Amino acid sequence: MLARMWLRLGAFLGKTLLWLVGLGLLGWLLSTMWFAWQHSGPVSADEQIPPGEAAMTQGIIQTAVRIVDQHREGTRYLRDAHAKAHGCVKAEVSVLHDLDPALRQGVFAEPGKTWQAMIRLSNGNAYPQFDSIRDARGMAIKLLDVPGKQLLADQQARTEQDFVMFNHPNFFVSDVAEYAQNVAAQADGKKVMAFFPSIDPRSWQVRHLFIALATLAPAPASPMQTTYFSVSPYKFGAANAKFRVTPDPENCPEYILPKQNQDLPNFLRSALSQQLSTDRVPACFVLQVQRQDSRKFMPIEDTSIEWKESDAPYETVAYVRVGAQDFDTPALNLACDNQSFNPWFGGEAHRPIGGINRLRKAVYEAVSDYRHSRNL
Ligand code: HEM
Repeated sequence: MLARMWLRLGAFLGKTLLWLVGLGLLGWLLSTMWFAWQHSGPVSADEQIPPGEAAMTQGIIQTAVRIVDQHREGTRYLRDAHAKAHGCVKAEVSVLHDLDPALRQGVFAEPGKTWQAMIRLSNGNAYPQFDSIRDARGMAIKLLDVPGKQLLADQQARTEQDFVMFNHPNFFVSDVAEYAQNVAAQADGKKVMAFFPSIDPRSWQVRHLFIALATLAPAPASPMQTTYFSVSPYKFGAANAKFRVTPDPENCPEYILPKQNQDLPNFLRSALSQQLSTDRVPACFVLQVQRQDSRKFMPIEDTSIEWKESDAPYETVAYVRVGAQDFDTPALNLACDNQSFNPWFGGEAHRPIGGINRLRKAVYEAVSDYRHSRNL
Protein backbone atom coordinates (compact mmCIF):
# COMPACT_ATOMS: atom_id res chain seq x y z
CA MET A 1 0.00 0.00 0.00
CA LEU A 2 2.72 2.41 1.10
CA ALA A 3 4.88 1.32 -1.86
CA ARG A 4 2.01 2.01 -4.28
CA MET A 5 1.51 5.47 -2.82
CA TRP A 6 5.21 6.19 -3.17
CA LEU A 7 5.11 5.04 -6.79
CA ARG A 8 2.08 7.25 -7.52
CA LEU A 9 3.69 10.23 -5.85
CA GLY A 10 6.90 9.60 -7.84
CA ALA A 11 4.94 9.36 -11.10
CA PHE A 12 3.01 12.55 -10.26
CA LEU A 13 6.19 14.47 -9.42
CA GLY A 14 7.90 13.16 -12.58
CA LYS A 15 4.97 14.25 -14.77
CA THR A 16 4.81 17.65 -13.08
CA LEU A 17 8.53 18.12 -13.69
CA LEU A 18 8.12 17.14 -17.35
CA TRP A 19 5.26 19.62 -17.73
CA LEU A 20 7.32 22.39 -16.11
CA VAL A 21 10.32 21.69 -18.37
CA GLY A 22 7.99 21.61 -21.39
CA LEU A 23 6.33 24.88 -20.42
CA GLY A 24 9.74 26.48 -19.78
CA LEU A 25 10.96 25.40 -23.22
CA LEU A 26 7.78 26.69 -24.86
CA GLY A 27 8.16 30.03 -23.02
CA TRP A 28 11.79 30.28 -24.09
CA LEU A 29 10.88 29.43 -27.71
CA LEU A 30 8.03 31.97 -27.81
CA SER A 31 10.13 34.74 -26.24
CA THR A 32 13.00 34.01 -28.65
CA MET A 33 10.58 34.20 -31.59
CA TRP A 34 9.01 37.40 -30.22
CA PHE A 35 12.47 38.95 -29.70
CA ALA A 36 13.57 37.98 -33.24
CA TRP A 37 10.33 39.44 -34.67
CA GLN A 38 10.72 42.67 -32.66
CA HIS A 39 14.38 42.95 -33.66
CA SER A 40 14.12 42.52 -37.41
CA GLY A 41 14.37 45.04 -40.17
CA PRO A 42 13.61 47.15 -42.05
CA VAL A 43 14.09 50.23 -39.82
CA SER A 44 13.86 53.96 -40.44
CA ALA A 45 16.93 55.73 -41.80
CA ASP A 46 15.63 58.98 -40.27
CA GLU A 47 15.51 60.32 -36.74
CA GLN A 48 12.16 60.06 -34.94
CA ILE A 49 11.90 62.45 -32.01
CA PRO A 50 9.40 61.33 -29.34
CA PRO A 51 7.31 64.00 -27.58
CA GLY A 52 8.60 65.22 -24.22
CA GLU A 53 12.27 64.54 -24.95
CA ALA A 54 13.43 68.13 -24.40
CA ALA A 55 11.72 68.34 -20.97
CA MET A 56 13.34 65.07 -19.85
CA THR A 57 16.72 66.41 -20.96
CA GLN A 58 16.44 69.36 -18.55
CA GLY A 59 15.90 66.99 -15.63
CA ILE A 60 18.91 64.90 -16.65
CA ILE A 61 21.14 68.00 -16.77
CA GLN A 62 20.19 68.83 -13.19
CA THR A 63 21.11 65.30 -12.05
CA ALA A 64 24.44 65.50 -13.95
CA VAL A 65 25.37 68.81 -12.32
CA ARG A 66 24.47 67.34 -8.90
CA ILE A 67 26.86 64.44 -9.59
CA VAL A 68 29.65 66.88 -10.53
CA ASP A 69 29.07 68.74 -7.25
CA GLN A 70 29.17 65.50 -5.25
CA HIS A 71 32.41 64.24 -6.77
CA ARG A 72 34.61 67.28 -6.81
CA GLU A 73 38.14 66.42 -5.85
CA GLY A 74 39.62 69.08 -3.55
CA THR A 75 38.73 72.34 -5.19
CA ARG A 76 38.58 71.03 -8.76
CA TYR A 77 35.34 70.07 -10.47
CA LEU A 78 35.62 66.90 -12.57
CA ARG A 79 33.60 65.57 -15.47
CA ASP A 80 30.22 64.02 -14.66
CA ALA A 81 31.33 60.90 -16.55
CA HIS A 82 34.81 59.67 -17.48
CA ALA A 83 36.24 61.77 -14.67
CA LYS A 84 39.60 60.01 -14.46
CA ALA A 85 42.05 60.39 -17.35
CA HIS A 86 44.95 58.06 -18.03
CA GLY A 87 46.41 60.85 -20.13
CA CYS A 88 45.92 63.06 -23.13
CA VAL A 89 48.19 62.06 -26.00
CA LYS A 90 49.03 63.61 -29.35
CA ALA A 91 48.18 61.50 -32.39
CA GLU A 92 48.01 61.57 -36.18
CA VAL A 93 44.91 60.44 -38.04
CA SER A 94 45.65 59.64 -41.70
CA VAL A 95 42.93 58.99 -44.25
CA LEU A 96 43.58 55.88 -46.37
CA HIS A 97 45.38 56.67 -49.64
CA ASP A 98 43.10 54.42 -51.68
CA LEU A 99 39.85 55.12 -49.81
CA ASP A 100 36.71 53.94 -51.64
CA PRO A 101 35.02 57.09 -53.09
CA ALA A 102 31.77 56.25 -51.23
CA LEU A 103 33.68 56.51 -47.92
CA ARG A 104 35.23 59.92 -48.70
CA GLN A 105 32.96 61.88 -46.35
CA GLY A 106 33.57 64.86 -44.06
CA VAL A 107 37.06 64.74 -42.54
CA PHE A 108 37.76 61.61 -44.62
CA ALA A 109 37.05 63.40 -47.93
CA GLU A 110 40.69 63.70 -48.98
CA PRO A 111 42.61 60.41 -49.37
CA GLY A 112 46.09 60.57 -47.80
CA LYS A 113 45.25 63.63 -45.65
CA THR A 114 46.86 63.56 -42.18
CA TRP A 115 45.11 65.36 -39.30
CA GLN A 116 46.91 66.28 -36.09
CA ALA A 117 44.83 65.07 -33.17
CA MET A 118 44.55 64.91 -29.39
CA ILE A 119 43.23 61.81 -27.63
CA ARG A 120 41.96 61.63 -24.05
CA LEU A 121 41.87 58.14 -22.50
CA SER A 122 39.68 57.62 -19.45
CA ASN A 123 37.76 55.40 -17.06
CA GLY A 124 33.99 55.77 -17.34
CA ASN A 125 33.13 56.27 -13.69
CA ALA A 126 31.87 59.59 -12.30
CA TYR A 127 34.77 59.83 -9.82
CA PRO A 128 38.35 58.55 -9.98
CA GLN A 129 38.82 55.01 -8.67
CA PHE A 130 41.38 52.18 -8.94
CA ASP A 131 41.85 51.04 -12.54
CA SER A 132 41.38 47.41 -11.45
CA ILE A 133 37.69 48.12 -10.66
CA ARG A 134 35.33 46.99 -13.42
CA ASP A 135 34.42 49.97 -15.62
CA ALA A 136 34.00 51.20 -19.20
CA ARG A 137 37.14 52.79 -20.71
CA GLY A 138 36.81 55.88 -22.87
CA MET A 139 38.64 57.25 -25.87
CA ALA A 140 37.85 60.79 -27.08
CA ILE A 141 39.61 61.92 -30.25
CA LYS A 142 39.79 65.56 -31.29
CA LEU A 143 40.99 66.29 -34.83
CA LEU A 144 42.59 69.75 -34.89
CA ASP A 145 42.55 72.58 -37.44
CA VAL A 146 39.44 71.26 -39.18
CA PRO A 147 37.95 74.01 -41.35
CA GLY A 148 34.23 74.56 -41.92
CA LYS A 149 31.02 75.38 -40.10
CA GLN A 150 30.53 73.83 -36.66
CA LEU A 151 27.24 72.18 -35.70
CA LEU A 152 26.81 74.18 -32.49
CA ALA A 153 25.92 77.81 -33.25
CA ASP A 154 27.88 79.14 -30.26
CA GLN A 155 31.03 77.13 -31.03
CA GLN A 156 31.98 78.61 -34.41
CA ALA A 157 35.46 79.56 -33.18
CA ARG A 158 36.32 75.86 -32.82
CA THR A 159 38.17 74.09 -35.60
CA GLU A 160 37.66 70.55 -34.31
CA GLN A 161 36.04 67.24 -35.13
CA ASP A 162 35.52 65.02 -32.08
CA PHE A 163 34.87 61.27 -31.92
CA VAL A 164 33.73 60.22 -28.42
CA MET A 165 33.72 56.48 -27.67
CA PHE A 166 33.96 53.77 -25.03
CA ASN A 167 35.01 50.14 -25.20
CA HIS A 168 31.63 48.42 -25.38
CA PRO A 169 29.48 48.26 -28.55
CA ASN A 170 26.07 49.03 -27.05
CA PHE A 171 24.52 51.17 -24.32
CA PHE A 172 22.51 50.05 -21.27
CA VAL A 173 19.46 52.11 -22.26
CA SER A 174 17.55 52.50 -25.52
CA ASP A 175 16.46 56.11 -25.40
CA VAL A 176 16.11 59.33 -23.40
CA ALA A 177 12.98 58.23 -21.50
CA GLU A 178 14.68 55.07 -20.28
CA TYR A 179 17.87 57.00 -19.45
CA ALA A 180 15.87 59.51 -17.37
CA GLN A 181 14.10 56.73 -15.43
CA ASN A 182 17.27 54.68 -14.92
CA VAL A 183 19.49 57.57 -13.81
CA ALA A 184 16.83 58.89 -11.42
CA ALA A 185 16.60 55.41 -9.83
CA GLN A 186 20.40 55.14 -9.63
CA ALA A 187 20.61 58.58 -8.02
CA ASP A 188 18.28 57.17 -5.33
CA GLY A 189 20.83 54.42 -4.66
CA LYS A 190 19.03 51.71 -6.68
CA LYS A 191 21.57 49.88 -8.82
CA VAL A 192 20.00 46.64 -10.03
CA MET A 193 16.44 47.74 -9.21
CA ALA A 194 16.85 50.66 -11.66
CA PHE A 195 16.24 48.03 -14.35
CA PHE A 196 12.97 46.89 -12.73
CA PRO A 197 10.93 50.12 -12.55
CA SER A 198 7.61 48.49 -11.60
CA ILE A 199 6.07 45.14 -10.66
CA ASP A 200 4.77 44.82 -14.23
CA PRO A 201 7.16 42.32 -15.89
CA ARG A 202 6.70 44.15 -19.21
CA SER A 203 8.68 47.08 -17.75
CA TRP A 204 11.63 44.89 -16.69
CA GLN A 205 14.83 45.60 -18.61
CA VAL A 206 16.72 42.33 -18.05
CA ARG A 207 18.65 42.56 -21.35
CA HIS A 208 19.73 46.11 -20.50
CA LEU A 209 20.89 45.00 -17.05
CA PHE A 210 23.15 42.45 -18.76
CA ILE A 211 24.51 45.17 -21.09
CA ALA A 212 25.30 47.35 -18.06
CA LEU A 213 27.07 44.47 -16.33
CA ALA A 214 29.07 43.63 -19.47
CA THR A 215 30.04 47.29 -20.00
CA LEU A 216 31.60 47.38 -16.55
CA ALA A 217 34.43 45.07 -17.58
CA PRO A 218 37.88 44.33 -16.14
CA ALA A 219 40.56 46.73 -17.35
CA PRO A 220 42.54 45.94 -20.51
CA ALA A 221 46.33 45.60 -20.08
CA SER A 222 46.69 49.10 -21.54
CA PRO A 223 44.38 51.80 -22.98
CA MET A 224 46.18 51.02 -26.26
CA GLN A 225 44.93 47.42 -26.20
CA THR A 226 41.15 47.65 -26.46
CA THR A 227 38.55 48.56 -29.10
CA TYR A 228 36.47 51.72 -28.67
CA PHE A 229 32.98 52.12 -30.18
CA SER A 230 30.87 55.18 -30.95
CA VAL A 231 27.85 53.17 -29.62
CA SER A 232 25.42 55.76 -31.02
CA PRO A 233 24.99 56.58 -34.73
CA TYR A 234 26.21 59.59 -36.75
CA LYS A 235 25.70 60.98 -40.22
CA PHE A 236 28.39 59.88 -42.61
CA GLY A 237 27.74 62.20 -45.51
CA ALA A 238 24.27 61.21 -46.72
CA ALA A 239 24.51 57.81 -44.99
CA ASN A 240 24.19 56.88 -41.29
CA ALA A 241 27.03 55.07 -39.56
CA LYS A 242 28.57 53.98 -36.30
CA PHE A 243 32.33 53.97 -35.94
CA ARG A 244 35.00 52.30 -33.89
CA VAL A 245 38.74 52.54 -33.28
CA THR A 246 40.53 49.24 -32.96
CA PRO A 247 44.22 48.33 -32.34
CA ASP A 248 46.25 47.75 -35.50
CA PRO A 249 49.61 46.38 -34.31
CA GLU A 250 50.68 45.41 -37.87
CA ASN A 251 51.27 49.06 -38.73
CA CYS A 252 53.55 49.68 -35.72
CA PRO A 253 56.87 48.20 -34.57
CA GLU A 254 56.32 44.98 -32.65
CA TYR A 255 55.86 45.71 -28.95
CA ILE A 256 55.20 43.55 -25.92
CA LEU A 257 54.09 45.60 -22.94
CA PRO A 258 55.92 44.53 -19.76
CA LYS A 259 53.46 43.26 -17.17
CA GLN A 260 52.17 46.13 -15.03
CA ASN A 261 51.46 45.90 -11.32
CA GLN A 262 47.66 45.91 -11.46
CA ASP A 263 47.39 46.54 -7.73
CA LEU A 264 48.55 50.10 -8.32
CA PRO A 265 45.61 52.54 -8.62
CA ASN A 266 46.74 54.09 -11.93
CA PHE A 267 48.30 51.16 -13.78
CA LEU A 268 46.60 52.12 -17.06
CA ARG A 269 48.47 55.44 -16.98
CA SER A 270 51.66 53.51 -16.13
CA ALA A 271 51.09 51.19 -19.12
CA LEU A 272 50.62 54.16 -21.44
CA SER A 273 53.69 55.87 -20.07
CA GLN A 274 55.75 52.67 -20.24
CA GLN A 275 55.05 52.26 -23.96
CA LEU A 276 55.10 55.86 -25.18
CA SER A 277 57.55 57.58 -22.81
CA THR A 278 59.89 54.91 -21.41
CA ASP A 279 60.10 52.38 -24.24
CA ARG A 280 59.32 55.06 -26.86
CA VAL A 281 57.27 52.73 -29.05
CA PRO A 282 54.26 54.15 -30.95
CA ALA A 283 50.78 52.58 -30.84
CA CYS A 284 48.60 52.08 -33.92
CA PHE A 285 44.85 51.83 -34.45
CA VAL A 286 42.47 51.91 -37.40
CA LEU A 287 39.36 54.10 -37.48
CA GLN A 288 36.48 52.22 -39.08
CA VAL A 289 32.88 53.01 -40.04
CA GLN A 290 29.87 50.70 -40.17
CA ARG A 291 27.24 52.10 -42.55
CA GLN A 292 23.57 51.53 -41.78
CA ASP A 293 21.64 49.19 -44.05
CA SER A 294 18.09 50.12 -43.13
CA ARG A 295 16.76 46.86 -44.59
CA LYS A 296 18.45 45.18 -41.62
CA PHE A 297 17.76 45.72 -37.91
CA MET A 298 20.17 48.64 -37.45
CA PRO A 299 18.01 51.22 -35.64
CA ILE A 300 18.88 54.91 -35.16
CA GLU A 301 16.77 55.45 -32.05
CA ASP A 302 17.88 52.50 -29.89
CA THR A 303 21.46 52.54 -28.57
CA SER A 304 20.99 49.21 -26.77
CA ILE A 305 21.11 47.47 -30.15
CA GLU A 306 24.54 46.55 -31.43
CA TRP A 307 24.58 46.71 -35.20
CA LYS A 308 25.67 43.26 -36.31
CA GLU A 309 28.84 42.97 -38.37
CA SER A 310 27.08 40.24 -40.35
CA ASP A 311 24.51 42.91 -41.39
CA ALA A 312 27.13 45.56 -42.26
CA PRO A 313 30.91 45.19 -41.92
CA TYR A 314 33.23 47.79 -40.43
CA GLU A 315 35.30 49.49 -43.15
CA THR A 316 38.64 51.15 -42.42
CA VAL A 317 38.77 54.84 -43.33
CA ALA A 318 41.87 56.07 -41.47
CA TYR A 319 44.97 55.04 -39.54
CA VAL A 320 45.51 56.45 -36.04
CA ARG A 321 49.12 56.65 -34.87
CA VAL A 322 50.02 57.61 -31.30
CA GLY A 323 53.73 58.43 -31.43
CA ALA A 324 56.34 58.12 -28.69
CA GLN A 325 55.95 61.15 -26.39
CA ASP A 326 56.11 62.52 -22.85
CA PHE A 327 52.49 63.21 -22.00
CA ASP A 328 52.56 62.72 -18.23
CA THR A 329 53.59 66.15 -16.92
CA PRO A 330 51.65 68.36 -14.48
CA ALA A 331 51.09 71.04 -17.14
CA LEU A 332 49.86 68.60 -19.80
CA ASN A 333 47.64 66.76 -17.30
CA LEU A 334 46.00 70.03 -16.26
CA ALA A 335 45.48 70.98 -19.91
CA CYS A 336 43.96 67.52 -20.46
CA ASP A 337 41.52 68.01 -17.58
CA ASN A 338 40.56 71.42 -18.93
CA GLN A 339 39.79 70.12 -22.42
CA SER A 340 36.22 69.45 -23.51
CA PHE A 341 35.28 66.65 -25.87
CA ASN A 342 31.77 66.56 -27.23
CA PRO A 343 30.23 64.46 -30.03
CA TRP A 344 28.61 67.70 -31.22
CA PHE A 345 31.97 69.46 -31.79
CA GLY A 346 32.30 68.96 -35.52
CA GLY A 347 30.64 69.42 -38.87
CA GLU A 348 27.38 68.44 -40.52
CA ALA A 349 28.96 65.47 -42.35
CA HIS A 350 29.38 63.73 -38.96
CA ARG A 351 26.30 65.07 -37.14
CA PRO A 352 25.31 62.89 -34.14
CA ILE A 353 21.84 61.35 -34.60
CA GLY A 354 19.34 59.45 -32.44
CA GLY A 355 17.83 60.19 -29.02
CA ILE A 356 20.88 59.50 -26.85
CA ASN A 357 22.98 61.81 -29.04
CA ARG A 358 20.29 64.54 -28.93
CA LEU A 359 20.44 64.22 -25.14
CA ARG A 360 24.23 64.47 -25.15
CA LYS A 361 24.02 67.73 -27.12
CA ALA A 362 22.53 69.58 -24.15
CA VAL A 363 24.21 67.64 -21.34
CA TYR A 364 27.88 67.76 -22.42
CA GLU A 365 27.76 71.50 -23.01
CA ALA A 366 25.98 72.21 -19.72
CA VAL A 367 28.32 70.03 -17.62
CA SER A 368 31.45 71.22 -19.39
CA ASP A 369 30.43 74.89 -18.94
CA TYR A 370 29.57 74.24 -15.29
CA ARG A 371 32.88 72.61 -14.35
CA HIS A 372 34.93 75.15 -16.33
CA SER A 373 33.16 78.06 -14.63
CA ARG A 374 33.91 76.52 -11.19
CA ASN A 375 37.53 75.74 -12.03
CA LEU A 376 38.48 79.31 -12.90
C1 HEM B 1 26.66 56.71 -26.71
C2 HEM B 1 26.99 56.57 -25.50
C3 HEM B 1 28.10 57.36 -24.83
C4 HEM B 1 29.44 57.31 -25.03
C5 HEM B 1 30.18 56.45 -26.03
C6 HEM B 1 30.05 58.26 -24.11
C7 HEM B 1 31.40 58.47 -23.96
C8 HEM B 1 31.97 59.47 -23.20
C9 HEM B 1 33.38 59.73 -23.07
C10 HEM B 1 34.50 58.93 -23.70
C11 HEM B 1 33.54 60.83 -22.30
C12 HEM B 1 34.84 61.48 -21.87
C13 HEM B 1 35.20 62.58 -22.84
C14 HEM B 1 36.50 63.20 -22.46
O1 HEM B 1 37.52 62.48 -22.47
O2 HEM B 1 36.51 64.40 -22.11
C15 HEM B 1 32.23 61.27 -21.91
C16 HEM B 1 31.99 62.37 -21.11
C17 HEM B 1 30.77 62.72 -20.69
N1 HEM B 1 29.59 62.03 -20.94
FE1 HEM B 1 29.33 60.48 -22.19
N2 HEM B 1 29.06 58.87 -23.40
C18 HEM B 1 27.85 58.35 -23.80
C19 HEM B 1 26.61 58.69 -23.36
C20 HEM B 1 26.38 59.68 -22.47
C21 HEM B 1 25.08 60.07 -21.98
C22 HEM B 1 23.76 59.41 -22.38
C23 HEM B 1 25.29 61.10 -21.13
C24 HEM B 1 24.27 61.87 -20.32
C25 HEM B 1 23.22 62.34 -20.78
C26 HEM B 1 26.69 61.39 -21.07
C27 HEM B 1 27.27 62.39 -20.34
C28 HEM B 1 28.59 62.73 -20.33
C29 HEM B 1 29.13 63.91 -19.69
C30 HEM B 1 28.34 64.94 -18.92
C31 HEM B 1 30.51 63.90 -19.91
C32 HEM B 1 31.52 64.94 -19.41
C33 HEM B 1 31.50 66.17 -20.32
C34 HEM B 1 32.48 67.23 -19.87
O3 HEM B 1 32.39 67.63 -18.70
O4 HEM B 1 33.31 67.64 -20.68
N3 HEM B 1 27.33 60.50 -21.88
N4 HEM B 1 31.29 60.43 -22.47
